Formats: sequence, structure tokens, C-alpha cells
Amino acid sequence: MKDRIEQILGEIEGLKCATAAEIEEARVRLLGKKGEITALFDEFRSVAPEQKREFGQKLNQLKTAAAAKIEALKAQATALADKAASGNLDLSRPGDDYPLGSRHPVSIVREEIVEIFRKFGYDVAEGPEIEDDYHVFTALNFPPEHPAREMQDTFFVTDNQKENPILLRTHTSCVQVRCMETMPLPIRVICPGRVFRNEAISARAHCIFHQVEGLYIDEHVTFADMKQAILLFAREMFGPETQIRMRPSYFPFTEPSAEVDVSCNICHGKGCNVCKGTGWLEILGCGMVDPNVLEASGIDSTKYSGFAFGMGIERIAMLKWQVKDLRHYFENDLRFLSEFESNI
Ligand code: DAH
Repeated sequence: MKDRIEQILGEIEGLKCATAAEIEEARVRLLGKKGEITALFDEFRSVAPEQKREFGQKLNQLKTAAAAKIEALKAQATALADKAASGNLDLSRPGDDYPLGSRHPVSIVREEIVEIFRKFGYDVAEGPEIEDDYHVFTALNFPPEHPAREMQDTFFVTDNQKENPILLRTHTSCVQVRCMETMPLPIRVICPGRVFRNEAISARAHCIFHQVEGLYIDEHVTFADMKQAILLFAREMFGPETQIRMRPSYFPFTEPSAEVDVSCNICHGKGCNVCKGTGWLEILGCGMVDPNVLEASGIDSTKYSGFAFGMGIERIAMLKWQVKDLRHYFENDLRFLSEFESNI
């Protein structure tokens, strides 16, 4: 019996099985009900009592060694199977898609406008969206009965019957006032921001939109300086061939005032449906800062003069990309937003 135990131990040591089926076969052969080791346990019953202790220990060791070997072989086989499976990896399979976000078209255009004026030496300034009547209207020379002060146009935060009510700014021109109040002269600033008007939402109007305001105040600033700045801006924004034209207009805070058109960059002046056959597209309002506005903010209008302009960012973006419906800018539909690429 002793020889038999030694022999099986040796066998176990040298046991090599490649597959799960072979391992199972070895297990049954050794440890199964009719297995070799089980048979030795049967034989053990008839061993002489004085040898029982020695053989008993040996048999138990054999059984443990056989079970451990089978487990080790199983673990090895599983590891091999895993390795084989990873060998089936298709490295040419397309990876998982992690889409990158892109900038909102309004942000792209705002940055473009700001960058152009930054090159001309303008600083960037921002003011509060929740403003008071004084900065939005009074300091900008709006007469008390001006229709823009009505509930239909302006969202009021506090009672509009009381003095200097709080409201949502209806234009970024109020940032001009804040700059004139706080900045040392000369002032050259560009002020991008969000504005609010009590308008019914449609393809052409929205109650929230964005503007960029510009202000330049120094000694001897003339209308010609303004024209030059706007022409250079238009050429940077819409291309070097762009022409501008100015039409007389009216704003309470500028005198004289003008509206500026650029030559249509789609048909190059021939007339198309974007420019409605005129060859021109309106882009901004501007003018020489009214002396009343300078004086209201404590600037000596006999010494200083300046110009101001304001444009709608969505409007410029619509012209740039031929977007016909303003509502697209506010719906956050990824199919729309992912159309715009920028290097900003
Ligand atoms: N604030 C005007 C608007 O919202 C735009 C504007 C026109 C701004 C003329 C100006 C300006 O600074 O000079 O329609």
C-alpha cells in the first residue's frame, strides 16, 4: 500500500492536463467514487491496527495533494482560456464615442467681435444684468415719457411707478454709463452682455438676446474716427472687400446717430433673399455720444467727445451662418449646436 501511495503521489506531481475535460477526468480517476485514492481508503480498513496511524496520515496527505493539484490545474486552465479570449480582441474595431462639446454660436461670435476690438486697443467691461432705471434710461438721456420705459418693453423687478425702479437691462448701453462713472479718461471699451425685452418670442425676436456695446471717449474724437473704426471692424468680421454705409437715425444717447449697413457678403451687393434684394445688411446703431450723456456722468463735454455703437450678437451670427430662426440659439438642440466649429 505504501508503494501504491508513493506511486500515485509521483503521478500527481507530474500530472499535466490542458483542458477542463481532462482535469475532470483526472479528478474522477483519482478522487471519484471508484477512483484510485478512494479505493485505497477502502483498502485502509483492512490494514493492521499498528499500521493504521502511519497509513492514515499518508493517505490523508495523498488526498489533500490530489485535491490541491486539481484546483491548481483548474486555475491554470482558466487563466489560459482568458488569455486565449483576449487574443481575439479586434484592435481595428472603432472605439467608444466620447463626443466633445463645442462652443455656442453666440459665444463664438461674441469672442470674434471682442477679439477684433481688442486688437484696436479696446478694453472689455461688463455690467450688471439687473440694473436700475437711471443707468438704463435716465443717464442715457431718455425722456421720462419715452416708450422704451413702458412695461410692454421692459421687465421691471420693482414697481415701475416708484422712483428709479430696478429692471432687467434692455440694452448694454447702460454699461457705457458705468464705465464713464468709474474709468479714467480716455475710455476705450467693448461691453458684451445679455439683455432682456418684453417681446413675444418668434423667428425674428426673443425676450433674451445678446449685444456688444462699444464706447470711445477722448479729446477730439470725431465722427470720422467712428466711421473708420466701424469700417475696420466690418472688414475684419465679414471680409476685406466689405463696404459700409451709414443712414441717419435717432437714439436718445447719441447725436448725430446712424444705422450702419454692410454690403451683403452673400451676393456681394447684387441682391439676394438674405439682403432682400437691397445688397445691404443692417448690423449696428451708432453715434456721437450726446453731450447730455457725458455731463450726466461728470465728463466735461466741452473738452471731451466720443462715439458709441451697439450691435446684436445673434443678428451678426445669423448673417454669418444664414440662420433664419432666432429661436434656434436658445433651444440647445445638439443637432444645431454641433454645426458650429470654431478655433476660439
Ligand atoms: N442700445 C441700442 C439698441 O439697443 C443700440 C445702440 C445704438 C447702441 C446706438 C449705441 C448707439 O451705443 O450709439 O438698439
